[in-house]
Amino acid sequence: MNQQSPQPDVNNNAIKPIVVGLLGYGTVGRGTHTILLRNAKEIARRAGRHIEIKSAAVRNTKRDTAGPINLTTDHQEIISDPEIDIICELMGGTEQAYSLIKQAILSGKHVVTANKALIAIHGNELFSLAHERGVMIAFEPAVAGGIPVIKAIREGLTGNTIEWLAGIINGTGNFIMTEMRDKGADFSSVLEQAQALGYAEADPTFDVEGIDAAHKLSILASLAFGIPLQFEKVYTEGISRISQEDVLYAEELGYRIKHLGIAKRSNNGIEMRVHPTLIPHRRLIANVDGVMNAVLVKGDAVGPTLYYGAGAGAEATGSAVVADLVDVVRTLTADPEHRVPHLAFQPDALSDLPICNIEDIATSYYIRLLASDEVGVLADITRILCDNGISLESIIQKEAHQTSVTQSVPVVMLTHEVKEAQLNKAIKQLATLTTIDSNIYRIRVETLATN
Ligand code: HSE
Repeated sequence: MNQQSPQPDVNNNAIKPIVVGLLGYGTVGRGTHTILLRNAKEIARRAGRHIEIKSAAVRNTKRDTAGPINLTTDHQEIISDPEIDIICELMGGTEQAYSLIKQAILSGKHVVTANKALIAIHGNELFSLAHERGVMIAFEPAVAGGIPVIKAIREGLTGNTIEWLAGIINGTGNFIMTEMRDKGADFSSVLEQAQALGYAEADPTFDVEGIDAAHKLSILASLAFGIPLQFEKVYTEGISRISQEDVLYAEELGYRIKHLGIAKRSNNGIEMRVHPTLIPHRRLIANVDGVMNAVLVKGDAVGPTLYYGAGAGAEATGSAVVADLVDVVRTLTADPEHRVPHLAFQPDALSDLPICNIEDIATSYYIRLLASDEVGVLADITRILCDNGISLESIIQKEAHQTSVTQSVPVVMLTHEVKEAQLNKAIKQLATLTTIDSNIYRIRVETLATN
């Protein structure tokens, strides 16, 4: 130990512990409590103070807890308890959580929250209120569970102009895509499995339709580019239309389908989009399987950086909650003006860069359609693509499907980069051909090249 600068004696009873009140005591609350008890000494050595959970507001006070705490069904009791320094919101949902957090801020309490929907939707207002009142809102557990990606972007990459980021930020969706590929399982049976394992959101459409990922992406984009939270502008497309065929054809072409959240600086502004994406199978992120999450961030100075880990789960998410608690404790004595800003950039330095419309993005596409097995059909397809300035990287005609009346063949194409508006126009024209089934599937392709 350094003799010159004695460390605070965290075992000294004179140093008052930091007292935490939980709103919600579910999976993450229990995980957080377990960590705080098990690693109490290590955490106190880091924070300089002991951190103790005093009480939790729950729906049913009969439940078991990881250690001794008071349970109450009255949320107000926690908010108005003068002994509680930090409110930890782990209840989820937006309406009640929003009103409770607002009250906590107005009572001068710091807040730690795992609630991505709340931050994505009400974050701008809550951060501004917290700034005014000199309290902190920490939200590391809201994105990618236990991965410290918020801290990495907000603090570790401050020297960079961030060019883009791409993340697998919903474990349930990634679990579904992985099982479809590895086990040939169909979408709905894997979803049931994910629900049984407790990964899925209360409303699983939030996972499979990309809403949960869009909440998280809007948070990451704000931290990366210094823009206000704009969840409502994220283009969001789910994975429920991905078929076994697409998974197999993608593999044949050397790609994997992942449900990605992508945020990118482009000439038109900022792109924020969540959709199934073909990525080259050799990329590290293409090999992130099961419920694991990963975020790839490209900075102009550091180059590509990849953050990988558990995106959900009791102790994994609890790990991020505890990290936030320690962060809050460490800065309690700091002048509020000199704390790390909530969205990485100083609140008065956020930029009003426009958010791109999905039709303005440019990328490559995988297209799958069903065509009659007749002379000239492929020529018609390529002519329409050519007329719309779309160049093909490859075109494959698969084995014929025999229907009761006609024989049809799946045709799979990969395009070169093209503006989405042009592709949409071409798809509309293709759908008018009598020799083509009007259900034309397309999946965006991203190379995620880092040079
Ligand atoms: N439902 C979310 C997921 C939980 O599957 O990733 C963590 O946010």
